[in-house]
Amino acid sequence: MKKALITGVTGQDGSYLAEFLIEKGYDVHGTIRRSSTDYRERIAHLEGHPRFHLHYADMSDSMSLMKAIGSVRPDEIYNLAAQSHVQVSFDVPEYTADTDATGVLRVLEAVRQCGLAGTCRVYQASTSELFGKVEAVPQNELTPFHPYSPYAVAKLYGFWIVKEYREAYGMYCCSGILFNHESERRGETFVTRKITLAAARIAQGKQERLYLGNLSSKRDWGYAPDYVECMWLMLQQEAPSDFVIATGEQHTVREFCELAFSRVGIDLRWEGEGADEKGIDRATCRVLVEVSPDFYRPTDVVNLLGDPSKARRELGWNPRTTTFRQLVERMVDSDMSKVAAERAGEHVRLNLEEYLEKGIVK
Ligand code: NAP
Ligand code: GDD
Repeated sequence: MKKALITGVTGQDGSYLAEFLIEKGYDVHGTIRRSSTDYRERIAHLEGHPRFHLHYADMSDSMSLMKAIGSVRPDEIYNLAAQSHVQVSFDVPEYTADTDATGVLRVLEAVRQCGLAGTCRVYQASTSELFGKVEAVPQNELTPFHPYSPYAVAKLYGFWIVKEYREAYGMYCCSGILFNHESERRGETFVTRKITLAAARIAQGKQERLYLGNLSSKRDWGYAPDYVECMWLMLQQEAPSDFVIATGEQHTVREFCELAFSRVGIDLRWEGEGADEKGIDRATCRVLVEVSPDFYRPTDVVNLLGDPSKARRELGWNPRTTTFRQLVERMVDSDMSKVAAERAGEHVRLNLEEYLEKGIVK
């Protein structure tokens, strides 16, 4: 039975990858961090599975990584742990560098120090943010990098140190240059989930308005469960190599909004430009979307479009398993259910409070 270690198993991708590898028959180990709040929601359904195990480790703590890697002695490591929010990286640049740049070095060096350089394959979660202030559209494995945020600069170090360990020590390690991928499990402050959750809340009377930053930003958005398969495929090749993973299709934040709101029965029209642009409900004339400069970034990546030809050719991967429309609809439908469940819970609580007040229940 093969053993895999996933750093960042509590994240969106980590949780899907853990499910995928368990399904493939792997013994799956994941790293977690201590937190005062419940952050294990995405993996709660896996806890207790006989082939799913958790270990405490932090990307900023080499000893903890050495301990996890040395005790598990995995055949494959998927290094997904990172401070993954681009805007947040402007607020915590040093922490982002420690986790997303030096953290990669710590994992690679732990593999070497544990004597696993010849047997353990390593996948590094790299990113389309490396293309940043893009120098060509679409972007493929040969497109020059121009990182445009502290997050991207840190990830660039990760990319190069992986290449270095491959060339210097002959290790099987590679980077997946993944374009944005989203899902029902996406963190709530990334733009897609922020929009789908707001559309669901607005449709159910739980929110008045959605405030966004740059509506014209363009992304190549895929579906996360489709993308974790590529991470695994990259570690099953004869020789290690880096791959761009993308759908090859591009949409603006504005288009994402239109589709999400239309799924809940709201037809948006746009009025104004730049910071004055507004999304208005055609039926009621209510302003539902507004721009807030709070969500502008000091430098923003605005034109990402991937060319997944190499992945299609060499990994046999289909980049269009899930369409853009299906992705948006799945996320909105899931948030509609989530909000409805919250409202039902609230209703029960309010009824109970009322009954308690009236002395109907004691
Ligand atoms: P995510 O949901 O934000 O998950 C990040 C994971 O990293 C969480 O498990 C988090 O643990 C863990 N983590 C953060 N800081 C850590 C630290 N100092 N030590 C140990 N663990 C730490 O991110 P994701 O969307 O799944 O992305 C997975 C990886 O792919 C990241 O490296 C990201 O940068 C990269 N990536 C993502 C995309 C995308 O579109 N999703 C595209 C390209 C690349 P907690 O739960 O404890 O916070
Ligand atoms: N988060 C956010 N919130 N983004 C907004 C908003 C808003 O209110 N309004 C507009 N945007 C724009 C951002 O300026 C950016 O251009 C785009 O929407 C996407 O932002 P995010 O969803 O935060 O994702 P990201 O592209 O910056 O980063 C994600 O994808 C990268 C791969 O390209 C993250 O998952 C990174 O970890 C990943 O590497």
